[in-house]
Amino acid sequence: MSYYVSVPFVPTPVEVIREMLKLANLKPGELLVDLGCGDGRVLVVAAKEFGARAVGIEIRSDLASKAAHNAIREGVRDRVLVINGNFFELRIPPADVIFMYLLTSVNERLRPKLEKEAKPGARIVSHDFEIVGWKPKLVENFQDGGRSHKLYLYVKE
Ligand SMILES: C[S@@+](CC[C@H](N)C(=O)[O-])C[C@H]1O[C@@H](n2cnc3c(N)ncnc32)[C@H](O)[C@@H]1O
Repeated sequence: MSYYVSVPFVPTPVEVIREMLKLANLKPGELLVDLGCGDGRVLVVAAKEFGARAVGIEIRSDLASKAAHNAIREGVRDRVLVINGNFFELRIPPADVIFMYLLTSVNERLRPKLEKEAKPGARIVSHDFEIVGWKPKLVENFQDGGRSHKLYLYVKE
């Protein structure tokens, strides 16, 4: 089953990305993965402002190309890898931080995969959509641009 049509590209505002990466305590040299990286903005902030390495998985080839170009334009190509593929069909990289802005239904389908493949101790941050069945370590309502964003932080056991 494809989840391509069910999750449109809606970018996370940069201030919200910064807040989520702070919540996740992303440190220099750590590895972040963005499941559905869109135009790569999360990867760029992670690499440029937090000194992390970042991998993005994006099903749409036009967005994956854009993400790779954005990493080049922003001078972080040496620390960013963009994979054009379906995250349901790929092994989740052994990331310290996993970033998601998907849908509750997609998170639910991803949960068993995260339980199996995410690194123990990995911090998982989800924009607006919870992972049903997991207890968040923290939930924050963050205001940006006149809108409230619900940010969830989980730690993989
Ligand atoms: C809501 S956007 C979030 C983009 C980016 N993470 C951000 O926060 O700015 C979700 C992205 O996930 C991608 N996507 C949806 N299903 C996917 C799948 N199964 N594998 C890889 N990417 C997927 C969509 O094409 C879209 O670009």
